[in-house]
Amino acid sequence: MKISRKDFIIRFWWITFLPYVLLLILMEKKHSFVSRKKVITIQGIFSQAITFKEEVICIKSEKGLKVFSSKCTHLGCKIDKVHNGKLVCPCHGSAFDLKGNVLNGPAAKNLTELTYTIDHDLNEIIIKL
Ligand code: FES
Repeated sequence: MKISRKDFIIRFWWITFLPYVLLLILMEKKHSFVSRKKVITIQGIFSQAITFKEEVICIKSEKGLKVFSSKCTHLGCKIDKVHNGKLVCPCHGSAFDLKGNVLNGPAAKNLTELTYTIDHDLNEIIIKL
């Protein structure tokens, strides 16, 4: 079977370069997905001692404000309540103090502390995940 030069070039291009182009597109999509940061804002943070919102827990004390991920360090359940002054995971009962330290397992690691900025004009805290 004889093919024209043009057909050969087209087939050569499809076979040689297309997988690389597709790979680049997939890598770009994955990279942009991973690097996209979620921003959580909490208004009126200064009025409550403990605030749960989405994936974060904000704790205000006399020493200042701490922000933690609400993701339990055991298996990742969302911590969304305080019981007897402790942050308690609803899944397996791990408990953390209000500084994020583990009090009872099965979690072995402290809660992840997050960085934040405060917009004093809007009275809100901004957390970039
Ligand atoms: S996921 Fe929180 S204690 Fe298991």
